[in-house]
Amino acid sequence: MDARTATVIALFRRTFGGAPQQGVRAPGRVNLIGEHTDYNDGFCLPMAIQQDVLIALAKRADQTVRVVSAEQDGVVEFTISADIPKATLPAQRWADYVKGCAQILVQAGVRLVGCDLALTGDVPLGSGLSSSAALEVATMHALLTAAGVTKSGAEIATLAQRAENRYVGTNCGILDQLSSACATAGQAMLMDCRTLALTPAPLPAGVSVVIADTGKRRGLVDSAYNERRAQCEAGAKAMGVSHLRDVTMHGLWQAAQAGRLDAAARRRCEHVVAENGRTQAAFAVLRAGDAVAFGQLMDQSHADLRDRFEVTCAELDGMVAIARTLPGCLGSRMTGAGFGGCTVSLVQDAHVDAFVRDLTAQYRAAFPAMTPAVYVTNAAAGAGPLALS
Ligand code: GLA
Repeated sequence: MDARTATVIALFRRTFGGAPQQGVRAPGRVNLIGEHTDYNDGFCLPMAIQQDVLIALAKRADQTVRVVSAEQDGVVEFTISADIPKATLPAQRWADYVKGCAQILVQAGVRLVGCDLALTGDVPLGSGLSSSAALEVATMHALLTAAGVTKSGAEIATLAQRAENRYVGTNCGILDQLSSACATAGQAMLMDCRTLALTPAPLPAGVSVVIADTGKRRGLVDSAYNERRAQCEAGAKAMGVSHLRDVTMHGLWQAAQAGRLDAAARRRCEHVVAENGRTQAAFAVLRAGDAVAFGQLMDQSHADLRDRFEVTCAELDGMVAIARTLPGCLGSRMTGAGFGGCTVSLVQDAHVDAFVRDLTAQYRAAFPAMTPAVYVTNAAAGAGPLALS
């Protein structure tokens, strides 16, 4: 048993007395390409990461849920219902992700039972690696396990997204929850956000995926994120389609000529259309084992997120610019919603150690107020049971 599993069992025993009956886990994710495309019914290419949320649980005889986290103070307690009150204290807001999952499951007609949950998570918060989706998907698994109900990964992801949209209030797409719920170890996947179809994509031999956290946290991200989404929806409406997935560059040009799309809206839409094309191209080159071409598409994606979609910041642009000067770096871009958080780079194995060292040192020198963290990551498995012994 690893140290984190032991931690969560000890936390359970200390908090609730007795031993947990079962365990579940759900990972964070890194998106390699296909950003701000999911809520436009488009394509993404993520993989799950080793950082995850672990939950040890036991059923109760009543309708009470008690939840404790190794990283937060206090025990949060609530009663299962279709209308669970949100946290009144800011220090307990983390548990709204748990409450939201319970409420959405009840609203979906699942007969939940009370349970005690002890959790620990090591997905960095607010850094674009889907710490909230990991918590939601792990919670869904925990609540369903306690209730003895089985659901598919896609159903769990959809319910978890609904919890985030309707209870927590972030209008996110399906990328994070579907990655966490359905990833395959050792592989990235092409995600079609319209059909929820996932096609495995092998990572090329001889290269590593390196995540670099800028240390900049995403202030005001929810409002800026929701605003981008609203702009895309307005763009689709102006084009007469339900989602930008169904739009072409030529169509955008025509709409702009006809005065149906202003310059700002056109730039946002152009990013989405181009990014969908790049993501499908990236999948094809991955299948062909062409890491160099994949890296070039990553670079183009970052430029578009910076110039046309405008969701980068000085720290993300700086981290990417430094990465690209280092030997062995095939491509580098921001990952996740943007406005702060992490970059992801594709680096030849022989250069990885020097890359990690030099990226850290040069970023520190350029942004002395920030504390970067750089991880080399493997593609982890999606959510599922956690062995407690
Ligand atoms: C966040 C959201 C996702 C997705 C990305 C951007 O991670 O939660 O749904 O929109 O941003 O690609």
